[in-house]
Formats: sequence, C-alpha cells, structure tokens
Amino acid sequence: MNDLISQLQSLVGAAHVLVGGDLSAYELDWRRRQHGKAFAVVRPASTAEVAAVVRACAAAGTPIVPQGGNTGMVVGSTPDTSGTQVVLSLQRMQAVRDLDSANLTVTVEAGCVLQSLQERAREAGLLFPLSLAAEGSCTIGGNLATNAGGTQVLRYGNTRDLCLGIEVVTPQGETWEGLSGLRKDNTGYDLRDLFIGSEGTLGVITAATLKLYPLPAATLTAWAAVPTMEAAVQLLTMARRKLGAGLTGFEVMGQFALSLVARHYPQMRVPFVQDSPWCVLLENADHESEEHARAQFESLLEAALEAGCATDAVVAENIAQARQLWHVRESIPLAQAEEGLNIKHDISLPISSIPAFCAETDARLVREIPGVRLVNFGHLGDGNLHYNVQAPEGGDAVAFLREREHAVNDLVHRQVARFKGSISAEHGVGSLKVDSLPTYKSAVALSMMRAVKRALDPANLMNPGKVLRL
Ligand code: FAD
Ligand code: MLT
Ligand code: ZN
Repeated sequence: MNDLISQLQSLVGAAHVLVGGDLSAYELDWRRRQHGKAFAVVRPASTAEVAAVVRACAAAGTPIVPQGGNTGMVVGSTPDTSGTQVVLSLQRMQAVRDLDSANLTVTVEAGCVLQSLQERAREAGLLFPLSLAAEGSCTIGGNLATNAGGTQVLRYGNTRDLCLGIEVVTPQGETWEGLSGLRKDNTGYDLRDLFIGSEGTLGVITAATLKLYPLPAATLTAWAAVPTMEAAVQLLTMARRKLGAGLTGFEVMGQFALSLVARHYPQMRVPFVQDSPWCVLLENADHESEEHARAQFESLLEAALEAGCATDAVVAENIAQARQLWHVRESIPLAQAEEGLNIKHDISLPISSIPAFCAETDARLVREIPGVRLVNFGHLGDGNLHYNVQAPEGGDAVAFLREREHAVNDLVHRQVARFKGSISAEHGVGSLKVDSLPTYKSAVALSMMRAVKRALDPANLMNPGKVLRL
C-alpha cells in the first residue's frame, strides 16, 4: 500500500497526495450523513495525470471515489469507512479550454466550479443556464455525474440536455476523448449519455463540451402567494400558456420550509410567509425587452388573482430584488440543515398527480409518525418535489433518524410508486438510496445496469457501493 502512495506522489506531486491530518472536507458529505475514511486524497492537475492515477490504482486493486465539490445529497462522493478507497478530487482541473461563440459551445474541465462557468459565459455575452444553490462550489464533473437539475430545467433541461460531448478516463486508465460539439451524431451507442448520471461508477469525467445560449434581453422574477397545491399547479398551467418558452423557473415553497428560512436567517425578508400555506417563485426571461416581460408577467398575475389561484403577488422591481427572492428560495436547504439532521426525498411525479400525492402522503405521515414536520419545496415546473421530513420540534434528530428513517422512507417511496413517480429526480442514488433502488426499479432495468457496470468496470473499482450493488 505504501508503494501506491509513493507512486501517486510521483505522478501528481507529494503536495497533492493527502494522507492523514484533517481530511473531513473530502471524507464527510455535505449533509453530514456519513464520515468516511480515505486511504488517500489525490488531486491530479490534468487528464493525463488522472489516467495515470487510475492505472496505478487499478494495478493495486484500490477503489476510487471521484469527487468534485462534495455538495452531493446522497453520500455518493465520499469514501466508505474502510480506509481503503482513494478519493480522486478533480478540483485542480478548472480550465475553460475553448469557447466557440458561433457554435454556442464551451469546453471545460471537470473541476470547473459551476458559477465560474456561468460567469465566463456571461463575459462572452452568452448564457450557461444550469443553476442551483450549490453553484458556488459544485463542479461541472459533479453536475454531469449526477445529471443535476436545478431551477431552469423546465426551459433548458437537465445537465444531460446541456452536454454535447465528454472526455472520460475509463476504469482501466484509458482516455476517451469524446469532446464533440456536434448537435447531431448517430454513429452508434450514445456513450456520452452512459456516463452522464453514472455517479462516478463507470469512469472519471475529466472535461465536457456544453451548450451555451444567447442571453435574454431581460429576466424578471415574481413571487406569488397561493392557497393550495392545486392552485400552484393551476398557476403553472396559466404561466406556461401565457409566457411560453419565456417561463424559465417555477419553484414552489411550503410555509414551513419558508418559516425555517425566516427562523435561521432573520435578516432575510420572506414575502407572504405568515399569510399563505404556499408561495411560488416564477421567472420570465424575455428576448424582446424588460417592458414586454413585465407586461406579460403583470397580465399573468392579474389573471391568476382573478382566478383565485394566487392571493397576492409581487414582481421584483430590479435585479437586486430578484436576487433577494431567489436567495430566499435557495436558502431553504441551508436553513433545513441548520434546523438539524433530516430525511430528504427528492421525488418526481406527473405534475397533475402532485396535489393528490401531497394530500394523501401528508395525512399518512402526520398520522403514522407523531410530531413529524414536513419541509416541502421544489421545482414544481419539473414535477420535482423536495418532500423532506424534519424531526419533531425540540426532539433528538439523531434518534429520530435512527428509529424512524426507514419507516418514513418506506411510506413516502411507496406513495411515489403508487403515483407512478421516481424516488430520485435529480440528486441520484449514491449510497443513501442504493438499497431502495431494487424495490422501485424493474428487475430488467437493474440487470441491464449491472451488465453495463460489469462490462466497463469488471473489477468494481469505480465508486463501489454507490448506485448498484453487484
Ligand atoms: P460531488 O458531490 O463531488 O459528487 C457527486 C457525485 O458525482 C458522486 O457520486 C461523485 O463520485 C461523482 N463525481 C463527481 N465528479 C465526478 C467526475 N469528474 N467524474 C465522475 N464522477 C464524478 N442538485 C440538483 O440536481 N439540483 C439542485 O437544485 C441542487 N441544489 C443543491 C443545493 C445545495 C445547497 C446543495 C448543497 C446541493 C444541491 N444539489 C442539487 C446537489 C449537488 O449540488 C449536485 O448534485 C451537484 O451536481 C454535485 O456536484 P459536485 O461537484 O459537488 O459533485
Ligand atoms: C434544491 O432544489 O434546493 C436542492 O435540490 C437541495 C435540496 O433538496 O435540499
Ligand atoms: Zn432541487
């Protein structure tokens, strides 16, 4: 084993092989659900170095856990507790290799932080639309590996839809340079799409070619109080009709989720939180002008108030106000973390079923799990709810999770299956949901997934124990 350490040191430099000391930034997941123990943390600076590290680990039979910003929600990016797994951090690989304005593409290394890429695109007068609250620290490699969603999916799609090509180091340490910027290429199986969403279990993504878009002339944000989840869905239907492709964001937030923001960040102004069981944040991006976008928004909100699907509404006057509204929404996961350990359900459902799902599942949870607190928010425009559960007020969250997590997950996941939804809309499977997957995914699908994993990674060295058990 010490041979491997010295080999890794000679490949990437001793300063970039971390052993011992406080490695919690790499070993502890964002949600503090599991503190693993790494054999070493290795930080290569180039694709060639990644390939050499992977070859050395493969020869030693040492498993690898690829890691970007370590912001994942399902304990996918941290090692297990055995002390035998190498964490391969892509954080030093941040270069933007190429930006092609005419082709509307950018080629970027996997460790590039999402926000840096957004800024780089904006400097070129273009838009990279992926957006999520972790954008200041999550990386493009992690976004691709989890097929991240975020707040612009209803207009631009998930990360998969934004990717035209990738570069991958295989579990054997070979490099596949698939950085095509082509929008059409039907030359066989789509290997790119196999790696997107594979959560580090099939290889290491080292770079990608991604789509860019023209910047809209104006982007406006509105916040509406809505009386019920049915009303929120009705408002979504109206917004789609009236705004068309201009509708770029539609987020729903339950009163308790917002009250956690008000409680933990009292300096923030949370509109309508006392007055309404639900709030909705809408975004309208317009390619004509701000006046046009504002007139469209005002007409939509007037119609919504008249129809009773909104009880109050405001359109942000300027960019600073819009940012404040988004900041409230994006602070919900952080406020929830401040409130204590919690159970997350990142679920998707047919949008039409969401009101009935919530009514039934809320009632069952409240009845069957005494004192339970529901933190419900999410990307309603994509049919994706973060249907989360917080321990009873003042209770011992660790004990609550130990005693109740299984029952809570079982209840919610069965309800999701009953309404024909998915138990993971955007966060992935990681190790948190690996044992639930066989209950909710068809045996045929799982057997094809295992066949792919065995074909590409026969020694099971790439992020073992995540997504699938072999
Ligand atoms: P990591 O957490 O480091 O890794 C995630 C997974 O990808 C792991 O399985 C890891 O092994 C693998 N991986 C990482 N890099 C590579 C690579 N280069 N090659 C191969 N595999 C790799 N997610 C959403 O989808 N939508 C949201 O709205 C959203 N909001 C969030 C808000 C907050 C506050 C936080 C903390 C997280 C949020 N997330 C969200 C979850 C998370 O940020 C995303 O999943 C993100 O894409 C992970 O990127 P990362 O670089 O941190 O990856
Ligand atoms: C979000 O939409 O804010 C995230 O996916 C994070 C979460 O679910 O907590
Ligand atoms: Zn989300």
